[in-house]
Formats: sequence, C-alpha cells, structure tokens
Amino acid sequence: MSHNLLKGKTGIIFGALDNKSIAWKVAEEAVSNGAKIILTNAPIALRMGTISVLAEKCNAKVVTADATSVADLENLFNIAIKEFNGKIDFVLHSIGMSLNVRKKRSYTDLNYDFLMKGLDVSAISFHKMLQVAFKMDAINPFGSILALTYIAAQRTFPDYNDMAENKSYLESIARSFGYHYGKVNNVRINTISQSPTMTTAGSGVSGFDTFFKYANKISPLGNASSKDCARYCISLFSDYTRMVTMQNLFHDGGFSKTGVSQEIMDLIEKKQ
Ligand SMILES: NC(=O)c1ccc[n+]([C@@H]2O[C@H](COP(=O)([O-])OP(=O)(O)OC[C@H]3O[C@@H](n4cnc5c(N)ncnc54)[C@H](O)[C@@H]3O)[C@@H](O)[C@H]2O)c1
Repeated sequence: MSHNLLKGKTGIIFGALDNKSIAWKVAEEAVSNGAKIILTNAPIALRMGTISVLAEKCNAKVVTADATSVADLENLFNIAIKEFNGKIDFVLHSIGMSLNVRKKRSYTDLNYDFLMKGLDVSAISFHKMLQVAFKMDAINPFGSILALTYIAAQRTFPDYNDMAENKSYLESIARSFGYHYGKVNNVRINTISQSPTMTTAGSGVSGFDTFFKYANKISPLGNASSKDCARYCISLFSDYTRMVTMQNLFHDGGFSKTGVSQEIMDLIEKKQ
C-alpha cells in the first residue's frame, strides 16, 4: 500500500532479522512510501539473518550496530547523516531480548545478570539511541522516533517474565525523552503496543501459540498483523501525525479495551 506518505524522508530501521520481523515489514512499507532508509542490526543478527535480501530489495545500506554500544550508535548516526547528506526524519527501535526467557528461568527465579543484559538490550538501548541522536542533533524538526512494546507493561502476562519490566522502562523513556526532545527540537517519540505476532522474538515466549489464539479471540478485530503494524508506523512517521508525541499507542485490534469476548465465554461454557 503506497500513498507516498514518506516521500523525501530518510530513516533508520533497527531490528529486521528475517522476513517475519516487524521491522522487515516496516522497511518494505517505508520504501514503498517513498523513503530512503538504512538498516541496522547486531553483528550476530547480520551473520545469522537474511537482512541482505531486504537491503537489496530496499536499495538500503546495512550498518552493523549493537544497540547497547554508544560507540556503535555514534558510528551509525554519523554514517546515516553522510549517506543521506543531511539529518534523519524517522527511526524505528524494534529490538527485544530477555536472557531469562531464553534460558527458561521463571519470574520467581530470575538470574540478575541475565536481567541486566535484557534490560540493556530491550530498553536502555532506546535511551542510548535517543541520547546519541540528541547530542549529534541528528533528527529533523518534527522527526518521529518509534519503539515497539507490549501490553505486559501495564497488565500481567505470567510467561512474559522480566520483559514486562523492560517494556515498562521502554515506554517511560518515550515519555521522558519525548518531553526533552520535543522542547528542544520538536522531535516526537512514541511507542506502539502491538498484538502478539509470529516472529522469532514473539515465539520465544513459552505458551506463545495458545496466547496468540487467546488474544485473537478476545480482540474484536482479531490480532493486528506485522504488516498492519508497519502501516501504522508509516502513519506515525508521516506529517499527518505531527502533533503526536510521548504516547503509548495500542495497535491490537481492540484487545486492550476488551474485558471478555463471546468466543471466550463460549469456550469456557463448553468445558464445564
Ligand atoms: N512478536 C510479538 O509478539 C511482539 C509483540 C509486541 C511487541 N513486540 C516487539 O517488537 C519488536 C521486534 O520484535 P519482533 O517480534 O519483530 O522479533 P525479531 O526477533 O524479528 O526482532 C528482534 C530484533 O532485535 C534485534 N536485537 C537483539 N539484540 C540486539 C542488539 N544488542 N542490538 C541490536 N539489535 C538487537 C534482533 O537481532 C532482532 O532483529 C521487539 O521490541 C518486540 O518486543 C513483538
């Protein structure tokens, strides 16, 4: 779907690993809407993933950056400014990882070294990226920066484990940095709280398949796909949302506002 909403705009997209990644779809939609982009991911993801396929399709440069390394982020923004011959209009942070989830540690038996690593990758990296961009004055006025989050920041989903805290921290950074960046440079910062989505990060959470079906039955519109999420991101990168900032925006087919659905009541009735 292209309406050239990003014609003439430039952006950096973090987190496209393979064609299931939400960032992959955002990259495709951004380019089909007229943007020029740079793709970036951690060194290991560049070795294991298929980002070069996306880069070719999007005619985009790929720059390696571990999002927890300030030096890598400075290098990335420097390259982007040179490549685009000017400042950047939009950035997507589409990064998440919990070592406790990966190593199947339960929430009541967390390893705190794992916790700190996951917090750095999933949340503090957002602050690092914003601070690097801010200090370099790398973003155009009314530029738009987005991070992807999940409703476990507000409500408990037991298997989401310490990622729940990581997402709360991430959303708080969007509000706090959104204030400062808005005041100084009119740059806007928001988070999108997306439905469960079948990706590498998503399906790493135990019980994900069942939960995906549950959310689909609760949400009046069903789960939002990664393609729909990408289109929502494009609207938030565009000039049609110039005054939206410091928000956590639910993109979940109505899940966050629904108490129960008829389908779930019917399922429980059947079992009794
Ligand atoms: N899949 C879901 O159900 C779902 C729902 C809501 C929000 N989200 C969020 O969407 C975002 C994207 O996840 P996804 O579902 O597309 O999965 P994904 O596994 O495709 O993407 C996660 C990305 O994070 C990158 N990453 C990990 N460590 C990094 C580091 N140190 N530096 C740079 N990049 C690093 C990975 O290489 C990968 O590309 C995450 O923030 C995730 O929490 C996902």
